[in-house]
Order: sequence, then structure tokens, then C-alpha cells
Amino acid sequence: MGTPGHKSLHDLVGSVVSGDAPFYGGLDTIKHADHLRMDGEGRAAALWGADWCRFSVAGSTHGNQALALAVGEPGQKVIINRTLHRSLLLGLVLAGLRPVWVRPDIDVVSGLPAGVAVQTVRDALAANPDVCAVFLGDPTYVGTISNLAGHAEAAHEAGVPLIVDQAWAAHLGFHPDLPPHALAAGADAMVTSAHKALPACTQGAIVLARTQRLDQARLDRAFEATHTTSPTGSIMASIDAARALLAREGERLCARLLRGVASARKRLSEVPGLSVLDGPGVEPAKLVALLAGTGANGNLVEADLIAAGMPVEMGDRDTIIAIPSIADDEDRIARFTETLIAAVEKRRGQPRHPEPAAAWTVQPQTVLAPREAFFAANETVAASAAIGRVSAELIAPYPPGIPVLAPGELITADAVAALREVQADGGRIAYAADSTLATFQVIAS
Ligand SMILES: Cc1ncc(COP(=O)(O)O)c(C=O)c1O
Repeated sequence: MGTPGHKSLHDLVGSVVSGDAPFYGGLDTIKHADHLRMDGEGRAAALWGADWCRFSVAGSTHGNQALALAVGEPGQKVIINRTLHRSLLLGLVLAGLRPVWVRPDIDVVSGLPAGVAVQTVRDALAANPDVCAVFLGDPTYVGTISNLAGHAEAAHEAGVPLIVDQAWAAHLGFHPDLPPHALAAGADAMVTSAHKALPACTQGAIVLARTQRLDQARLDRAFEATHTTSPTGSIMASIDAARALLAREGERLCARLLRGVASARKRLSEVPGLSVLDGPGVEPAKLVALLAGTGANGNLVEADLIAAGMPVEMGDRDTIIAIPSIADDEDRIARFTETLIAAVEKRRGQPRHPEPAAAWTVQPQTVLAPREAFFAANETVAASAAIGRVSAELIAPYPPGIPVLAPGELITADAVAALREVQADGGRIAYAADSTLATFQVIAS
């Protein structure tokens, strides 16, 4: 006679609820489950070398927002990469933090972003001695990495913590050929999705921190502020199981993944016109195929891969991003590679230069802080009248979920054109009040 309302019966809604158990009152009694939670989180803290750890059932989205709520106070500035995930931008809204944007360099050959240069962050710190933290997303969505140890040193010299959104790379640090994870590189906190790179249930995320520059009680308050009071036991247990797997067999499974990806990269780069992201600035477990030299349209290649039962993380005109994980053996990765090559051959066309996607090239002009814009009175205007006005909404092509327009930013003709281009290519225009882009929500005049 407690939750869940489905009572583990399948007679009302069918088997969709199978495997669902609440954490409190399911994995243990309501009064005792916290011991179980703290035991799992303590083991994860030890594995990652953290002082503090929490398991989230609300993804890195929640983790990012918790970490935004864990630093500074409303009105303070943070240095942050503009190619951030929308969850962190909304974290700035929640926490009232003001962004000082830094941008990654764009690789001219691939049109894709590299990591943010340490000097860029150093310059921003020198120009803004009043910031309260540095936030960086690393690896980037395309798997490029920055010098996190250099960033940590720069942030610490300025007396502020470095916080890293490492959503895509929970496996980092678990094999000598992988870069260290953010904490090992010197960061003060990181969030990672256990459901992305690790075999945990969807929504599972891990938030980890050191408490030299961040306050443990504040971290807890920030985490609890927006976490559900009814976490799903199955997600919590799966995060713990992924943690146990990494501790037990992480190195072997990462070695298998690295072998699979290395072979796939080699095989793909033998295909005329096709290349892959590779080299010291790229996370070695990511598989990013660059199609421009083959003339194939990535949106069509992606559709072929879906039809073949092998959907990928992202496809746009010039790029296919696959996310192999430690669950994939070498055969699975090789089968995917051959299917990808067959799709590219089928769609081969006139080679072209890659066009950097809107998400990477956005040059925002911030007029109002994100929080002020989020709560300001707004109105809906036709697209033609929106140019030159200040956006009230966040609009992000998804994936990758990087806002092309954020609340408080000037709506430029370039931003509208870039969004329209994504739309014309069949991309999903997410979070816009009007996803047809006929109208925009702007700050009321
Ligand atoms: C860089 C980055 N951070 C955070 C997130 C949010 O992760 P989650 O889906 O686990 O909430 C994403 C999702 O794609 C992401 O790309």
C-alpha cells in the first residue's frame, strides 16, 4: 500500500512498467534506502577520486543544473563555452549566473569545433577577475578534447573552480590510452551521463566533485533542489552496476572498444573521399565520419542506417557521429562500419567543402543575461520582424542541442538563416515555441 501505483501488476497498462521499482520503498524501505544510495555513491566517489558523488535519475541535464546552482550567487559571472548543451544554459537561468562566453576554434578542414584553447580561458579570466567559476564542456559533442589540466591550472590560479560537463565520456580515465577524466585532470567537479558511454539505463548520470573549492553542503542542496523525490530504483541500480563494471573490468572493456574504433577509423579512411576525426585532439573512442569528400548527404546516409537497424547519434549533411560504447564488441563495430560504407557508396555524389553547422559557428550578441531574458515580458512576432530584436526563447537544432539562439541574445539574420538551413536539411528545431520558424518569441518592446 505504497507507490508505485502500478503495484508491479501488468493488468492495467501492460508490461511497460516491468522492471520499474521505486528507489525508496523498492530497493530498500523508505526509511533505510539512503544507506544503500550512499554506499553506491561512496564507491563511485572512490573510483573517480572524488570527495562527493551523487547518482541522478535525470541525466546530465540535472547534473549540469545542479552544478550551476552550486557556485556563486545570482548576478555573478562565469566563464563558459558558448557551444554548451542547452541544459547548462538553463542552469544559468536557474542560478542567475551571467555568462562570459568563450568559443572553440573551428577546424577549417572538417568544419568541426576543437576544444577551447587554454589561452582563450586565460584571457577571459584576465578580463573578468570577478568570475566565480569556469564551466567547460569536454569532450565536445564531436569528441574533440581540450587541455583540461591547463584549464584547471588557469582556473585555480584565478582562485575559481573548474567544472566540466563530461556527459559523453564516462569511460575516460579507465584505460591508459584514454585521456584522464576531468577530476583526474584537476577539475573540481564533473557531470557524466552513465547512459551515454556506460551501460546504465537511460537518464542515469553521475555528478562528482572535490570539495577544496566547492562546498559539500551547497553541492547537496543544489543537487536536491531539482532532483525528483521519487528516483527510479532501476536507474539508480543500473548506475551502480555500471560503476561496478568499470571498477572490475573497465580496462578490458575499454581496450576492446579502443581496438574496435581504431579498426573502424582505419577502414573508413581507406574509402575514397571519406575521412574520420582522429589524432591527439580527439577522444579515441568516438567515431566521427566526415562525408563531404564523398559527396554523400549525411542526412540520407543516416536514413539508410536507420533503415538498416543501426541508428547513429547524429547525422547532418557533412557528418555522421556514431557512439560505440563498452557494450560493443569489435564485430558489432565492424558490422556498423561496413553498413556505413555501403550507405556512403549508395549516396556518393559530387565532392564538396564541409559547411560548419550553425551550432558550432554561432556568434551570439548577448543583450540581457539569460535569467533576465527568461523572465522578461515577451511577445510573438513574424520572423521578418524578429531580426534585430532580443530572443526570449532558446532554440537549438537537436542533436546536438547547442542553442543557436538563447534567451537574451540578439536575433540576427545569420542566426535565422542558419536555423532555416538546418530545417531545410530535415533537422529538428527543438525548444522553439514555433518550430516552423515562421514566428519568434522576443522580449517585449
Ligand atoms: C554536452 C552535453 N551535456 C549534457 C547533456 C544532457 O545529457 P542527458 O541527456 O543525460 O540529460 C547532453 C545531451 O546530449 C550533452 O550533449
